[in-house]
Amino acid sequence: MGRLSVFVATRLLDEIQRDLTAAFDVTFLDTRKPAGELTARDSAFDALLVSLDTPLPAREIDALPASVRAIATYSVGTDHIDLIAAKRRDIAVFNTPGVLADSVAENAIFLMLGAARRATESIALVRSGTWQGWSATQLVGMELSGKRLGIVGLGDIGGRIAVRARALGMQILYSNRRPLPAGHAIDARFFDSPGALIAESDVLVLACPSTADTHQLVDAKLLALARPGLILVNIARGDLVDDAALIAALRDGRVGAAGLDVFAGEPQIDPAYFELQNVFMLPHIGSSTIEARRRMGAILIEALSLWAEGGSPENRVY
Ligand code: DGY
Repeated sequence: MGRLSVFVATRLLDEIQRDLTAAFDVTFLDTRKPAGELTARDSAFDALLVSLDTPLPAREIDALPASVRAIATYSVGTDHIDLIAAKRRDIAVFNTPGVLADSVAENAIFLMLGAARRATESIALVRSGTWQGWSATQLVGMELSGKRLGIVGLGDIGGRIAVRARALGMQILYSNRRPLPAGHAIDARFFDSPGALIAESDVLVLACPSTADTHQLVDAKLLALARPGLILVNIARGDLVDDAALIAALRDGRVGAAGLDVFAGEPQIDPAYFELQNVFMLPHIGSSTIEARRRMGAILIEALSLWAEGGSPENRVY
């Protein structure tokens, strides 16, 4: 294959756009539009670069020009792409595993601390100009040291959360489909279900992918097993949580606080969250650091270049 032609359907930092332009023949869709408009284009291109803001359901993939042989997503998650439809058309799919894991793990700690130390109320108070000064009864939160952190999905990101949480003095528990192999670098106690895990956790972090199996994993039934005052943190995908159930549990105190970076149906957020002072919310910024953004660009450029030469990049999803 000669120089690869790539259609970039998502907005990227200028420096990433420059790197792509140096590597490939690139066309940018530089206003934010639904990826659906791509299908109306006549121009042929070899690869399409998308991200979470440019979802590719089956109908979009089916309508792509026949020349498209690869989709690169500027994300680790691939739940916005119909992978079956891509496979049916024999389109290779590449993502950005590993390179954003440190940033997302740091964000998990930020959410944990923000929820435990009542960041929403503290920030609102100090910014309101009505703060009356130090008081021993004011905004009393919870220390993380000595607490048990349950991680649902102890993979790459979950493992990096564990390392950081251990430095805070937390004990690590986890649930996965299978226990980690004996002698694994992370010393953590395995639970064979999220239900068993939540019952032993002071803080529960969701770090697993969104799949049919994990959809609304956190529902009323699971939350009924939680220790009173649990802190729930979600850095994965919003649809892992049944919002109505979490909101009810935050209201009645079974869940003491939540730290949420992702939401079902984002950017539309269940308005009930805005009324809850015990929720620390961020607008899906887990991977939003300059370091992660640069590495995400580099890994996709490397993958597409290797694939164009007939190689097999490790970050090929399908
Ligand atoms: C991803 O890459 O899937 C993340 O959710 C982006 O922050």
